[in-house]
Amino acid sequence: MSLLSVENLRIELALRAGPAPVIDDLSFTLEAGRTLSFVGESGCGKSMTALAIMGLLPDVGRVAAGSITFDGADLTTLPDARLRQIRGNEISMIFQEPMTSLNPVYTVGEQIAEVLRRHRGMTGRDATARAVELLDAVRIPNARSRVTAYPHEMSGGQRQRVMIAMALACAPRLIIADEPTTALDVTVQAQIFELLRDLAHDTGTALILITHDMGAVAEMADDVVVMYAGRAAEAGPVEAILDDPRHPYTRGLIACVPHLTADPEAARGDLTEIPGIVPPLASLGASACLFASRCAHVHDRCHGARPPAFDCPAGQRAACWLEERA
Ligand SMILES: Nc1ncnc2c1ncn2[C@@H]1O[C@H](COP(=O)(O)OP(=O)(O)OP(=O)(O)O)[C@@H](O)[C@H]1O
Ligand SMILES: [Mg+2]
Repeated sequence: MSLLSVENLRIELALRAGPAPVIDDLSFTLEAGRTLSFVGESGCGKSMTALAIMGLLPDVGRVAAGSITFDGADLTTLPDARLRQIRGNEISMIFQEPMTSLNPVYTVGEQIAEVLRRHRGMTGRDATARAVELLDAVRIPNARSRVTAYPHEMSGGQRQRVMIAMALACAPRLIIADEPTTALDVTVQAQIFELLRDLAHDTGTALILITHDMGAVAEMADDVVVMYAGRAAEAGPVEAILDDPRHPYTRGLIACVPHLTADPEAARGDLTEIPGIVPPLASLGASACLFASRCAHVHDRCHGARPPAFDCPAGQRAACWLEERA
C-alpha cells in the first residue's frame, strides 16, 4: 500500500459564474521515503493540491470528487479532529515565505519547542535540547547559541531552515514543501534543496516538493507530476520525464532549462518560454485539450476532446493525443 494515494481528485472553486474545477481527475501515488515533485506554471493548481492533502482548502474550495488516501484512511472523509491530529504529526507543510510563518516575538527555539509541546508532549529542558538538535540537523551553525535568536536576527536561508526544523519536529511521515526556496537567492536555494533531500533520505520521510523549477526537479525528484491547468499533463519517474518527455508542455518546461535539454536552439537560450498563458479558471471545464492554444503540435482532435492519460514507452503517462497508440 502506498503512503499517499490520490485518485481522480476534483477540487471545485465556487466562483461568481458557478463552480469551476481548479483540479480535475488528478491521480498519483507516493511511497514512503520517495520524493515527488509537482511542477508547472503559476496558477496550475500545485498549492491547491497540497492544501487539499492538508485539509486546508480555502473556504471557496471543496473536494468535489475523488479520494486522498494517507496510510489507508481517506482524508477527504475523516472527521476534523482526526485530520488535525494527522496534520502536524504525520504530515507537515513548509511554505514559501518563512518570515510570515514565523512569529517575530518568540525566539526560534521557543517556536520549535512549542511544536514539540503540542505534538510530542515535550516540555522544558527536554524540548529545548531537542530544539538545539533540530537546528543542528538543519545545519544552522552554533545551534546551541542560535536557539535563542529571534527570526529577524537570521538570514532568509536560516529562517527557512528553522521552518524545516519545525516541520521535522514531529517526525512526520510526509513533508510537503511548497516552493520552499522561492524567496531565497540561488546558492541558498541549492543548499536548502540539498538539505531537504538529505533529511528525507536519512529519515525515510516522503517528500512532496512543489516548484516551477525543472532544474530542481532533476536534482531532487524520484517521481514527477507535470501539472497544467489543474490536470496532470504528464506523470511518471523522473528519468522518463527528463529523458523522453512526451507532452509538448513538458518539453517546453525542460527547454526553459538550458542544461537539461539536448535541443540546440534551447541550449543557446533561444527558447526560453512557452508562448501564451494558462487558460482562465472559468474555461477549465471545457471539452478540449487545455494546452491546445499554446501547442505547436495542435490538430483537430485536440479541439474536440480532452485527451486521457496514455501509457508511454519510457514508463510515464501523458495526456496528449499524440501518445495514442492503436
Ligand atoms: N482563495 C482562492 N480563491 C479563488 N481562487 C483561488 C484561490 N486560491 C487559488 N485560486 C486560484 O486557483 C488556481 C490554482 O491556484 P494555485 O495556488 O494552486 O496555483 P499554483 O500552481 O500553486 O501557482 P503558484 O506557482 O503561483 O504558486 C489559480 O487560478 C488561482 O488563481
Ligand atoms: Mg502555489
